[in-house]
Amino acid sequence: MIIYFSGTGNSKHVADVISKKTGEKVVSMSDCLKKMQFDFKLKKGERIGFVYPVYYWGLPSIVKDFVKSMSIEKYGKHYAYSVATCGVATGSADEDLAKLLSKRGIKLNASFAVKMVDNYTLVFSVKNKEKNDKKNENAKETIENIAFLVENRTSGYHNPYRSLWMFSPIAHVSYELGRTTSPFKVSQDCIGCGICVKNCPTNTISMEYGKPMWINKKCSQCLSCLHHCPVNAITFGPLTKKNGQYLYDETK
Ligand SMILES: Cc1cc2nc3c(=O)[nH]c(=O)nc-3n(C[C@H](O)[C@H](O)[C@H](O)COP(=O)(O)O)c2cc1C
Ligand code: SF4
Ligand code: SF4
Repeated sequence: MIIYFSGTGNSKHVADVISKKTGEKVVSMSDCLKKMQFDFKLKKGERIGFVYPVYYWGLPSIVKDFVKSMSIEKYGKHYAYSVATCGVATGSADEDLAKLLSKRGIKLNASFAVKMVDNYTLVFSVKNKEKNDKKNENAKETIENIAFLVENRTSGYHNPYRSLWMFSPIAHVSYELGRTTSPFKVSQDCIGCGICVKNCPTNTISMEYGKPMWINKKCSQCLSCLHHCPVNAITFGPLTKKNGQYLYDETK
């Protein structure tokens, strides 16, 4: 079983590649959270994987909430692993996950990481499609290699992007304080399609009089709503509009 969270498709793609290699099923954390499904059962010899994006050198709030609620029946000597997808550096995200999982009785055998396009458009631009394609193309070999190592139940720490991990707690405080929804704004370009509502993993957006409203004060800040909008009508702060939109392109 491969349990993943993904805002813009990078982590979903990694989960899908591993699934193709191992034949094991993919489970979406967002779907489980929406359906309040937290109990899982492993088959004999099944691997259990967690694939997620790095947020502020730590874990997305969704991943933390999910792992705290999850229970795995029949977990014994199963091979357990995690894969972080990041744009620059993972900080201590994988160690944070290992600690949370160990509280649920799961001991990770292996941790992996891969660099893909950075969807944090509050700072970074994703406008250069050629540059994006090149970055994800470069990640292909790493992802295939991770899938191979998972298939063969390889143990160990395989993360070359851990740099600056010692500052992770400081960086992550700004995530917990900053993931408010008040900076979200919708422009006149909005066509009222509801795609942002459908793609929000935390049910934070509601359509009111044909326009989206952010009904919770905080969210995971996954930016899925912003990147999925067909007319780029959603902004978060001054830079996101000009920094562009990104979704992993499955056709590449
Ligand atoms: C709120 C937020 C914070 C992020 N923080 C980091 C970070 O600390 N380090 C990093 O390398 N990438 C960071 N990123 C980039 C994502 O980890 C990266 O693009 C990831 O592959 C996205 O995966 P997804 O498409 O599955 O959502 C951040 C992205 C978001 C939305
Ligand atoms: S409101 Fe947008 S950024 Fe926040 S959780 Fe929903 S989709 Fe993600
Ligand atoms: S996805 Fe964009 S166009 Fe569609 S309702 Fe949301 S903001 Fe409006």
